[in-house]
Amino acid sequence: MCGIVGYIGNKPAVDILLEGLTNLEYRGYDSAGVAVNVEGKVELYKAEGKLQNLKNIVQEKYEHISKSVIGIGHIRWATHGVPSVTNAHPHTCNCGKVAIVHNGIIENYKELRAKLEANGCTFRSQTDTETIAHLVASKYAQTKDLTEAVRIATKEIEGAYAIAVIHQDVKNTIVATRRNAPLVIGFGEGENFVASDVPALIQYTKKAMYLDDNQIVTLTPDSVKVIDENNNSIPLKIENLPWEPVALSKMGYKHFMLKEIHEQPDIVRNVLTGKLKNIDENISLSEVTLDKDKLKDLKRIQIVACGTSLHAALVGKYIIEELCGIPVDVEASSEYIYRTTITDENTLVIGVSQSGETADTITAIRQAKKKGSHILIVTNRPDSTMAREADSLVPVNAGIEVSVAATKSYMAQVISFYLLAIYMAEIKNSASKEELIKIKHELIVLPQKIEQILNHKSDIQKCAKAFSGHKDFIFIARGINYATALEGALKLKEISYINATGYSAGELKHGPIAMLDESMPVLSILMKGKVYEKILSNAEEAKARNAKLIAVTNSDDIKLDELFDSIIRVPDIEEILSPALAIVPLQLLAYYIAEFLGKDVDQPRNLAKSVTVE
Ligand code: F6R
Repeated sequence: MCGIVGYIGNKPAVDILLEGLTNLEYRGYDSAGVAVNVEGKVELYKAEGKLQNLKNIVQEKYEHISKSVIGIGHIRWATHGVPSVTNAHPHTCNCGKVAIVHNGIIENYKELRAKLEANGCTFRSQTDTETIAHLVASKYAQTKDLTEAVRIATKEIEGAYAIAVIHQDVKNTIVATRRNAPLVIGFGEGENFVASDVPALIQYTKKAMYLDDNQIVTLTPDSVKVIDENNNSIPLKIENLPWEPVALSKMGYKHFMLKEIHEQPDIVRNVLTGKLKNIDENISLSEVTLDKDKLKDLKRIQIVACGTSLHAALVGKYIIEELCGIPVDVEASSEYIYRTTITDENTLVIGVSQSGETADTITAIRQAKKKGSHILIVTNRPDSTMAREADSLVPVNAGIEVSVAATKSYMAQVISFYLLAIYMAEIKNSASKEELIKIKHELIVLPQKIEQILNHKSDIQKCAKAFSGHKDFIFIARGINYATALEGALKLKEISYINATGYSAGELKHGPIAMLDESMPVLSILMKGKVYEKILSNAEEAKARNAKLIAVTNSDDIKLDELFDSIIRVPDIEEILSPALAIVPLQLLAYYIAEFLGKDVDQPRNLAKSVTVE
């Protein structure tokens, strides 16, 4: 959701800005822009739509623009004001000397705008961001110091922001700051970078520092200085980034999503490494710092998350309740934060997030922390805001996920929940050793089973082709795979814009069945176990209403061929592990349908990878 890049050094800034923005495209955006300083003058270049439109504009004047060795760039995901060139960042003050890019939302922008207008500022855009440009310009007029101007300007701002600012009269400086929005500084030789995420700078440097809330950084080509909001100097905490630039390559796949689906067998192996060493040994989860006695005494667990991570949490609930006997509530973070939640020091609160930057989940865990709960974060970004606020951090090691539609990070979250549940069950002695050994064995062989599905994806491709003309889909399942139905439907709607809904199969006859006819395919997740026969009857009920039926199943019962119009067979697996396998064909089905429909698979419309506003 919005992306910032800033560069100061000795190379044409515009090249690095456009490359950096390209590597942030996955965050989701609808316009883009850069500000550079060419021969002492701040110039803006902006375009609506894809980054390529901006690249085309820059290309026409490349010789001129590339003279600048300082610049800031931005991709915008519209919040205040429609996607347009006027609303695209960077924004400037009236004299055009200050240029600013911003992620986040300024909550008091209306009051600020009224005050600034009363003082003579003329606003051109509908954005909240433009207020910061005017505010910084007015503070600079008083202080003649850009860092100080930013510092005192931010004291008047309420809300979330990461910003980067340049000023025409301060040619050798970028100032940046953040509050509740991520910002990372990259350190080079004779050049420095600032960005809202690592992919923007990883190909230039692996030396980085994450800025904390309210810290202000001043970058020149040869220096990086950080202060806090009270002007105290902050020592630089430079770390080596774990990411490899190759993570940003499609490696021959047509889309990042397809590549990431194919990475899942290795992701499972990665997550298990060092934690599940041997089926006879206990799971080792040194990341969980919750005292073992406290863990034994836990009265309840609450899991907060959004979207796909929420679905991983639902699988987690099922496994933890099954193996540990602790009641688990799962709630969308956006709901959790606006009601009276009953939580205390006997409640473990788990936040699940691919990005670790989702605003609603951050707020939810902060609320729970204030009430004394131990906060355990399951995230793919150990460098994120949520990770830094965690009491226990379970990093899921899925590597960077570029496709907006989450696939491998979901898999890694689900596998992490198996490890966490077994870990707790071993401490609590709440499940039989045989049961746990069976699950551990299944986890170890899971990657090969996923590989078998990936090797037979042509069947899924055929099914996708046959059903790609439908406008609506229903996904049904029961028990532990209810979450799989929700996640499969979410994948389909996200990238193909088909109206797909996941239902608990038993709920079908309480309403949704009214919609069924030959135009509404029903996909059943029919995995062997407690609820197999029940789902089969629900599928029969759908058939009786002329719905076309698809099954994802590990059953080899040939009678299914009579009932279902299309069957996607997956390897056999214990029911409790089945969500980790059944989701793979659903990810592929969504992918191939979207591809047949010619959709922008990796960057679906209106979506952002990292949702940093509430
Ligand atoms: C769907 C998807 C989103 C995210 C949601 C939460 O494919 O990616 O639904 O799961 O926005 O994001 P995180 O996991 O980063 O907190």
